[in-house]
Amino acid sequence: MASEKPIGLFDSGVGGLTVVREMFRQLPQENLIYVGDSARCPYGSRPVEQVRQFSFEIMDFLVEQDVKMIVIACNTATAVSLTEARVRYPVPVLGVITPGSRAAISATRTERIGVIGTEVTVSSGSYAREMHRINPRLQVVSQACPPFVKLVEDGDLDSQETERIVRDYLAPLQHEMLDTLILGCTHYPLLQPVIQKVAGSKVQLISSAEETAREASFILAEKDLLQTDNPAPVHRFYTTGDAAHFTDVAERWLERKVEVRSLSLGIK
Ligand code: DGL
Repeated sequence: MASEKPIGLFDSGVGGLTVVREMFRQLPQENLIYVGDSARCPYGSRPVEQVRQFSFEIMDFLVEQDVKMIVIACNTATAVSLTEARVRYPVPVLGVITPGSRAAISATRTERIGVIGTEVTVSSGSYAREMHRINPRLQVVSQACPPFVKLVEDGDLDSQETERIVRDYLAPLQHEMLDTLILGCTHYPLLQPVIQKVAGSKVQLISSAEETAREASFILAEKDLLQTDNPAPVHRFYTTGDAAHFTDVAERWLERKVEVRSLSLGIK
């Protein structure tokens, strides 16, 4: 039996749109609800307990909207809330760290993998733990890149200053002989051209988006919840921040018109 209910996704801001874009490609008939918490972005430098509170507040909202699945389209929120969310909610909950880890493991040839992400994600050790569970031989090196999220939220994707900042933060990884670098924050694929330029063409960049959408598709198919016969899917976007700015970034990244509503969340 197909389900017309929407899939709910959220992120601290526009980063999760990288997952939405892949959902459009792989699950084009699904109705979606996306929440971007730009007013409280970035999550990645906040205390863990606060990120958990924000994440559960948004997931409660999505469950009230009667979603059939939640995708935590944010590495930081995944690192601190996924395990508990799976117990708390009656619908499947997916994060981006396991899919990103799998994609990196299948891409690496030298077993030397780098991870860049927010401070919370990197200090959680979630990527290394997940990858070592599958292959304990992997060499995993991580680097937090706190300023990257703001560059993306501001839409400052390719200035000279952006390149300088990316160069500074990737410098510690340059001598690690990595062949694979995980973009362990869903904002970072928007900086992919500059990150690739700085990392060099021999390093494969991994975004979780593709593998996450694939996993969502598997789970929905397995539970018989895939949406079928839906030529005009409904996509609802909410932001806690400036709706005009969010619309601008979303339309550029998703290459289509979107309608964005304002959402006000309680905890500041
Ligand atoms: N996009 C988010 C992530 O994947 C979080 C960025 C932030 O708010 O710090 O980690």
